[in-house]
Amino acid sequence: MDLDALKKRAQEESSAIKNLSDLEKWRVKYLGRKSELSLFFDSFKNLSLEDRKNKGAQANKARIFLTSLYEQKKKSLESATTHFHFFDITRPGKKIPKGHLHPITLVLNDIIRSFEKLGFAVVLGPEIETEYYNFDALRIPRNHPARDMWDTFWLQKGLLLRTHTSPMQIRYMEKHEPPFRIIVPGKCFRFEATDSRHEFQFHQVEGLMVDDNISLANFKFIIEEVLKDIFKNQVTVRFRPSYFPFVSPGLEVDIKLKNKPRGQWLEVMGAGMVHPDLFDTVKYPKNMWQGFAFGLGVERIAMIKYGIDDIRFFFNPDIRFLEQF
Ligand code: PHE
Repeated sequence: MDLDALKKRAQEESSAIKNLSDLEKWRVKYLGRKSELSLFFDSFKNLSLEDRKNKGAQANKARIFLTSLYEQKKKSLESATTHFHFFDITRPGKKIPKGHLHPITLVLNDIIRSFEKLGFAVVLGPEIETEYYNFDALRIPRNHPARDMWDTFWLQKGLLLRTHTSPMQIRYMEKHEPPFRIIVPGKCFRFEATDSRHEFQFHQVEGLMVDDNISLANFKFIIEEVLKDIFKNQVTVRFRPSYFPFVSPGLEVDIKLKNKPRGQWLEVMGAGMVHPDLFDTVKYPKNMWQGFAFGLGVERIAMIKYGIDDIRFFFNPDIRFLEQF
């Protein structure tokens, strides 16, 4: 038997094989029990010892050659096909994490939507303010004790980080004639030590409504409507006299959730009737307009709404907190 010819033929055929089932056929043909090689081995039993040794050694070499050919081919086919073999398109995919809005943004959107329903327009103002708009024009002159109400981050040249959104009252009135109703959502900054109720940055929504027949009754109605809307009727509102230099009279608004009647009242805004001096400052004619103004604390609303007892969570990038919204 011509073993070299057999090896050559086997090698040629194996190099043309492209899949495992063809390779299996090849294995049966060249290495199986009925292969030429096996039959060749079988024929040895009639040979002399001498011949048997000789041919046996050659036949063994041929078998080792074919076996290693088979192993190599199998390996290369398997590595080329592994990818397809183990790719199961019916398996459920990995869940891709989805982003979402920050709790403050959610609450801010709620507040804005509630005021928009009542005809308020949204206006934005600068976070860097002048001393004039943040203080003087609001009847808080330099060296006046009322300035202590707002611990300030001062910048250069009389500029500062606004301590409240009230400067927009002046800026807006300078450019617009009544009647109007606006809200000014935005960030404010105070140079304060932080605790569970105070942060050095927070959000306010300023409100200003000016017309020719406005009283505190209008303010009460509108604020109650908005708070009921935000808290889906589950809230009690309390008005308390207070002082701010740019309103007269001034008041503060506290709220409490109806389902926690024994809980604490939480202050959510300062407010009052616009002081007539402000109308003079923006050169409105005397005794023509009245208005109310308020500054709503957004974090306070969010704390009550979501039952969060520390304001510092909002500016802390702790994913375990943020993931809950
Ligand atoms: N600007 C005041 C504050 O930050 C709140 C306020 C706004 C009070 C409007 C009265 C009128 O404390």
